Amino acid sequence: MEKIVVNGGRPLVGEVEISGFKNAALPIIYACVLVKDKCIIENVPNVLDINRSFEILRGMGASIKTIDKTTVEIDCTNVVCGSSAYDLVRRLRGSYYLLGAELGRFGEARVAYPGGCDFGVRPIDQHIKGFKALGASVVTDGGYIEISTENGKTTGTNIYFDMVTVGATINVMLASVMGEGTTIIENAAREPHIVDCANFLNSCGAKISGAGSDVIKIRGVEELHGCTYAIIPDMIEAGSYMCAAAATRGDIKVTNVIPKHLESITAKLEEVGVKVEEFDDAIRVSVNGPLRHTNVKTLPYPGFPTDMHPQMCALLTTVEGVSVINESIYDNRFRYVEELKRMGASIKVEGRRVTIEGEVPMTAAPLVAVDLRGGIAVLIAALTCSGTSEITDIHLIERGYDDIVGKLKSLGADIKKIYVPDPVEIKRAN
Ligand code: EPU
Repeated sequence: MEKIVVNGGRPLVGEVEISGFKNAALPIIYACVLVKDKCIIENVPNVLDINRSFEILRGMGASIKTIDKTTVEIDCTNVVCGSSAYDLVRRLRGSYYLLGAELGRFGEARVAYPGGCDFGVRPIDQHIKGFKALGASVVTDGGYIEISTENGKTTGTNIYFDMVTVGATINVMLASVMGEGTTIIENAAREPHIVDCANFLNSCGAKISGAGSDVIKIRGVEELHGCTYAIIPDMIEAGSYMCAAAATRGDIKVTNVIPKHLESITAKLEEVGVKVEEFDDAIRVSVNGPLRHTNVKTLPYPGFPTDMHPQMCALLTTVEGVSVINESIYDNRFRYVEELKRMGASIKVEGRRVTIEGEVPMTAAPLVAVDLRGGIAVLIAALTCSGTSEITDIHLIERGYDDIVGKLKSLGADIKKIYVPDPVEIKRAN
């Protein structure tokens, strides 16, 4: 079992380079299934969810070669439909993109029901509604989702989503990009990763317009060809370092970012009193005076991202006054709160509303990373408290943060990763 050990209480200072966006890389990697050719993908983050996705695709017959630290060549020419490993697929949410990708390429799909962080019920009814509207029939059987079409192709149509959903928007794009006719998605999600995936597909010869707005038009093409494509920087990784710098009263430059994608995060940090300076592809975050409370409501892009809610909460425990976060995307993204309370934080959760009393003294403690963003929030809190905190279950943080320990160390954090034998393993060895 690996742990992160942090001696907190030091401001983060220096420069940190942001990796490629996990949530854009996932659909793009699975979109390669649609292409019977080589795709060179650049700016790929070295995180667990991506490496597991490579394992899934390799197991299906894909050839994936590492070109350099952040570049891979993916060739899915020989991928076999329905052959993804059940146990790997069910461990990550992003694997649901295999449904759309298999359906788009083969006119059918068979994939295990997806996993992912536990935020309460995470239905995929809108994905299924989309596939059915495209003329497919969908059944669930023995933990698998099975999709088929009559003539081996999806059929273009108009789809109106009942809610704004990133996953279903992308899945319908994947399923219809080589379908017959034209598909129009209304009430589409507008996240930068939707645009990135559409740009990738268009670089492969797809005809997608409107990505980034709430109406996306996909005109089916016969086939896609390979291309070279660079993934956009990870706005959530960037936002997490911005919150960590503010919480530790540091001064950092976050490089390889698209400042436009960070606007909602920047605006909230400025409201709190943090100084944020924008450059072409970098942002500097510093704290020169006292910070004050604020209210946050998570919303689909361009609103404040739910994936920044726990990190913002960790920051708000350090500022004057009472702050409120309203979580409007997930029913239960609050498991991290118990860990912050373990450190002494005064936080109340009522329904989807989190009330944070700031500047209550907090102390280092043994902590658990309960999920990806909850884990990084707990780590941010540990960085703010003097004393030694140990964080377990760090594989959950490593699902989405490239070299988290190395990057924080380079910003002056006293942090290391250690291996400790699991008590269960010790028992077995005896
Ligand atoms: N929803 C439904 N039915 C559906 C699909 C979604 O009810 O068929 C609901 C969800 O339960 C949720 C809301 O709609 O309440 C939004 O879900 P969405 O489909 O947008 O989320 P997702 O595709 O499952 C992606 C990211 C999440 C991020 C959300 C929202 C990936 C792999 N995951 O999930 O990222 O929170 O969009 O922006 O891209 C993370 O990175 O920590 C993470 C959880």
